[in-house]
Amino acid sequence: MSKYNFDKVINRFQTDSIRWDKYEPTVIPLWVADMDFLSPPCVLNAMKNRVEHGIFGYTHEPNDFKENIASYLKKHYCWEVETEWIVIIPSVVSALYSIGISCTKSASHIITPQPIYHHLRLAAEQSGRSFNEAQVETIKNRQILSTKSLNKVINNNSELLFFCNPHNPGGTVYTKDELIQIVDFCNKNNLFICSDEIHAGMVLNGHKHIPIASISKAAADRTVTLMSLNKTFNFPGAGLGWMICKNPSLREMASNRIGSLIPHPEIFGYVATNAAIRDGEDWRLALLDYLNQNRKLLIERINQIPGLKIYDIEASYLGWISCEGIPVKDPHQLFLNHGVALQPGYMFNQPDHVRINIATPHSLLNEALDRIETAIKSI
Ligand SMILES: Cc1ncc(COP(=O)(O)O)c(C=O)c1O
Repeated sequence: MSKYNFDKVINRFQTDSIRWDKYEPTVIPLWVADMDFLSPPCVLNAMKNRVEHGIFGYTHEPNDFKENIASYLKKHYCWEVETEWIVIIPSVVSALYSIGISCTKSASHIITPQPIYHHLRLAAEQSGRSFNEAQVETIKNRQILSTKSLNKVINNNSELLFFCNPHNPGGTVYTKDELIQIVDFCNKNNLFICSDEIHAGMVLNGHKHIPIASISKAAADRTVTLMSLNKTFNFPGAGLGWMICKNPSLREMASNRIGSLIPHPEIFGYVATNAAIRDGEDWRLALLDYLNQNRKLLIERINQIPGLKIYDIEASYLGWISCEGIPVKDPHQLFLNHGVALQPGYMFNQPDHVRINIATPHSLLNEALDRIETAIKSI
């Protein structure tokens, strides 16, 4: 038994949680991507110590912060990164939007996968540039952005590809060969890559996260990688992330609004990130073990429900469920009527799907799956 208690159901009502406050208290909310688990003790203690001090003035990066990030990347992904390639940001999402504008010209064209975490699509849509969605293919039950779909949407003005690995929704972890194909495509068509790798710390079941920028020198020269430990160690409300970009001119463009429209991170983002890097590994491994058990439970149970189908989950805690086999227009509403709030597929431009967040105690997940089963029987 783990020394961390992921089974404990912690009341999150009246904590201003976006996820728990939206629906009636009787609904199990498995939509927004945060976890129902306490952050690791090392993060909680570091936060408490900082609160004890009692003054929360403007705060610069802690000493050796970028060195700590660089060693973390080397240890976990065998990725050698120099500290000057790292730019600290308060949020991955705001960087997506600013990169969509700062790293392209007004006549440029942007490509984004589909389905995808909605902010990658919205960052393209709201950039004022033209854009297209490249359909993710299902290959052996994995959701993959392939060069076949990229070729269908590329044009002479294409300048930027938004990419997400591990993929959200669904959690595909791209293999080295799959990444090489994407890099080759971007080299051939001279595209920058903005790679959102925020879920990299939660790769499951012996899969391995490979940062796309680490594939080759050419990949490093055309990629801005976005990462954060918010998701892995469950402190997204104290956000902090970083960009990594080897190419100095691309890095300068990508850093454009930082410190002005994009604020510097706040104090608890630094405190939590440093603590997680320093002392969080034992907790992270226990978390992965727990998520793996939930993943197994989810797949087994969904596969027994007629009309539903689930794609492989190779990372993180966001299952992508196809409801194409049920005669229901709005599956999200059907499940909500039976007391489970899932992320509606229309957020990802695929209304016949729903996304489920399984970062919750086994007991709640089991109850939610019972309700999903009942909802399907009611049709
Ligand atoms: C792929 C992806 N990128 C970014 C984010 C959010 O990033 P941040 O909280 O740093 O803005 C999420 C949250 O669900 C996500 O799934």
